[in-house]
Amino acid sequence: MAKLLILFTLLILYIVIVESEDVDYYWRDYEGEIPEDAISAGRDANDKDVYIGQILCSKHKDNFSWLRTSAKTLQRDIIGKHAVAGGYNGKVEGIYSIGRVMYDKSTQVGPISSFYPGNADFYFVYKNKHFLFIKTYEVLIYSKEH
Ligand SMILES: *[C@@H]1O[C@H](CO)[C@@H](O)[C@H](O)[C@H]1NC(C)=O
Repeated sequence: MAKLLILFTLLILYIVIVESEDVDYYWRDYEGEIPEDAISAGRDANDKDVYIGQILCSKHKDNFSWLRTSAKTLQRDIIGKHAVAGGYNGKVEGIYSIGRVMYDKSTQVGPISSFYPGNADFYFVYKNKHFLFIKTYEVLIYSKEH
């Protein structure tokens, strides 16, 4: 009986794990090598891939796209679309979207303050020193259907 219970528990665990593998995208910690399913946002000045955070991965890379938008028009531009969530601002209880720009010959990735309608700035940390705020950028979109 105990054996059966263990088997049953293992089966349930297996199903849960297999099911959870079909999520659209996920964040994953890594050490050393970049995971194969990591999403590249573009290239840096040395032609190396630029990844998103620590670290955005997916088995459905083709379902991601970048949409040109701006701080003023973001809310309108993403109606009916799914902007990938990149973080949470506890102070205003808002979700950051993920943005990118080309700057200094490199793709720069950072959060978009999507929760400020008409003022959804994108920013990134430049040379590990200061924040640069940008009004025109691209937002990362995940599409289930095209
Ligand atoms: C990916 O996009 C295709 C359309 O190009 C769609 O049929 C499919 O359901 C999407 N897959 C996922 C896991 O969202």
